[in-house]
Amino acid sequence: ASTLGAAAAQSGRYFGTATNSSQLSNAAYATILNREFNSIVAENEMKWDATEPQQNVFNFGGGDRLVAHARANGMSVRGHTLVWHAQQPGWAQSLSGSALRNAMVNHINQVAGHFRGQIHSWDVVNEAFADGGSGGRRDSNLQRTGNDWIEVAFRTARAADPNARLCYNDYNTDGINAKSTGIYNMVRDFKNRGVPIDCVGFQSHLGTSIPGDYQANLQRFADLGVDVQITELDVAQGSNQASIYERVTRACLAVTRCTGITVWGIRDSDSWRRGENPLLFDGNGNKKPAYQSVLNAL
Ligand code: XIL
Repeated sequence: ASTLGAAAAQSGRYFGTATNSSQLSNAAYATILNREFNSIVAENEMKWDATEPQQNVFNFGGGDRLVAHARANGMSVRGHTLVWHAQQPGWAQSLSGSALRNAMVNHINQVAGHFRGQIHSWDVVNEAFADGGSGGRRDSNLQRTGNDWIEVAFRTARAADPNARLCYNDYNTDGINAKSTGIYNMVRDFKNRGVPIDCVGFQSHLGTSIPGDYQANLQRFADLGVDVQITELDVAQGSNQASIYERVTRACLAVTRCTGITVWGIRDSDSWRRGENPLLFDGNGNKKPAYQSVLNAL
């Protein structure tokens, strides 16, 4: 196959990118998007601050434009993200306790309900674990509503969109470490107790190296009975960029339950890390060596 999406489809996987509805009208950008990718995720437009700018007042404009583009072009959609400590609207940041918990549940019901039937996988909860060696939860306004907030979010999302795969998504989980093990223990507990969880997303915002146990880490989660997905892949440009992209791609393909890879933007100039030139296309839309290494590995 000669494109990322078609190559990934040969093994039943998708190859996606983060995008913004404002970029769809840029012809150079849209040419690459529509040629190479068969999955998209909203870089920002399905987050809490974008979708519920005032309490119980919803704005689905950007998300609806992205979903329509995906449908028209045969792409699947990842939903990102229902609940997160960051990019909350100001009104939610100032809530606590049961008022915040109720607002979270209403947000999930309204957003997952609006997009019901159109989302392949939802990042129900994003980045709830702490960095470092504790293996525990991140302190946040959501965490302070009670440790059960994550399972409540997953149960609520399941009822609101029974057909979406429900994912937990996080970063700095690129190998077997205290943070990824904390998440692993939560997923195992959820599976044991019947809390609905279907997938774990590994953001994979990488620097100039990759842990040797990247694949083994994906595999141990898959062995719990969940799908795994590479959800926000980007890699700092250095001498190893192409080989690190290749390693990630080969790891996903080697894990039967790794169902797809998403890069966090198309051209280096589109990236939230643009100073590090971390993507597969340069600012002129030319394919970089990393592109060829991914295509060859798929
Ligand atoms: C980033 C976007 O790329 C930026 O445009 C925005 O300003 C901040 O958020 N982890 C995530 C993503 O889950 O939502 C973040 O996206 C990058 C880190």
